[in-house]
Amino acid sequence: MNAIDIINKTKKKNELSESEIKWLVSSYTDGDIPDYQMSAWLMAVCLNGLTETETLSLTYAMRDSGKIEKLDIPLTVDKHSTGGVGDKTSFIIGPIVASCGVCVAKMSGRGLGHTGGTIDKLESISGFRTDITHEEFEEILKKTGFSIISQTDELCPADRKMYALRNSTGTVDSIPLICSSIMSKKLAMNADCLLLDVKYGSGAFMKTREDAQKLADLMERIGRAAGKKCRADVTDMNSPLGRCIGNALEVREAVDVLSGRSKGRLYDICIELAADMLELAGKGTVDECTALAKDAVSSGRALDVFRETIRLQGGDPRVCDDTSLLPQAEHKFVIRAMEDIEILSIDSEEIGMTSLLLGAGRVSKTDKIDMSAGIVMNCDVGDKISMDGTIMTLYSSTLSDFSDAAVRALGAIRFRRI
Ligand code: URA
Repeated sequence: MNAIDIINKTKKKNELSESEIKWLVSSYTDGDIPDYQMSAWLMAVCLNGLTETETLSLTYAMRDSGKIEKLDIPLTVDKHSTGGVGDKTSFIIGPIVASCGVCVAKMSGRGLGHTGGTIDKLESISGFRTDITHEEFEEILKKTGFSIISQTDELCPADRKMYALRNSTGTVDSIPLICSSIMSKKLAMNADCLLLDVKYGSGAFMKTREDAQKLADLMERIGRAAGKKCRADVTDMNSPLGRCIGNALEVREAVDVLSGRSKGRLYDICIELAADMLELAGKGTVDECTALAKDAVSSGRALDVFRETIRLQGGDPRVCDDTSLLPQAEHKFVIRAMEDIEILSIDSEEIGMTSLLLGAGRVSKTDKIDMSAGIVMNCDVGDKISMDGTIMTLYSSTLSDFSDAAVRALGAIRFRRI
């Protein structure tokens, strides 16, 4: 086999065999195929797509490039969200589902862009460790039913190399490539059940509902073909998820939801996704699972799981009872309404870019995150705010002059005078 024949086949829309895809992926991972040939093939995929059979072969080849997780636990569920601004659902849903008796074994990554990823957010809790060993991970899962580990180098090395190349060659936005990248990692984590939350809108990878549905359907079919109980939901990311954007601020909001203090769109989405996970795990009908999930929050059991997992992963569990122990920003800036207004829309992407300006995210891998930085939205779409009322509050410890950030943040809000 050779790379040029494979590139030409995809260029001419001829289907590749499983062995050709396997050879391409393993040769690239081993360094036997150079970046320029792999880039050419990835671009051919971006332009011409792959068949579903090819996508499944690519997913398996990437999964098999590294270790496949094996946990000594009878039933585990995993969840993947394609991410977006203010998405802290993993560490709200995980404790809810675990407190209903189903183990949630989660591997997450750090973030590039607006805010950190799930791992960065959790590391805003003093002492919290996600670089735990396989043995610690399994032990915590057995004790609390919920643990989050950071992505290890052994898992899907092919995806790590290909994703870095895609990022620098304009080949990220391809449904079969996104599908195989995500699903290879999920299949390597090897949970019995898999819930996929595909987001669409201004703060998400998929800009339209139609594209998100296509990706969700494909991932669901690939998951099922690989023998998993799998379901993919499509959810809206046109406005930020919840009121807080920024690492410590998002942990604070998660504690507010888990303690039952905060209800609203974030709570509703978390209950819906948790119920779907419980249903996949055979805990009853969707209605029964919704009741279970709500009870887990109102009884305080879900917060107990989160508190105990934090303790076992080395973090300060007192944050679950006193969120002022999380990193606090040195500076804040309140954006107020100059007249009576009604909020028409909030652009997630722009809110995300503002939080990056405040120090909440990283542009390159080595950037240091300001854990205290971010935004609290004091309004939602449809809210009416009187003159001088608060629209949002910006926080930072790295920035004291908020002028640029405030202009960008206000630009994200569409409103009308009332
Ligand atoms: N997330 C991934 O892990 N891979 C992609 O290709 C896109 C989003």
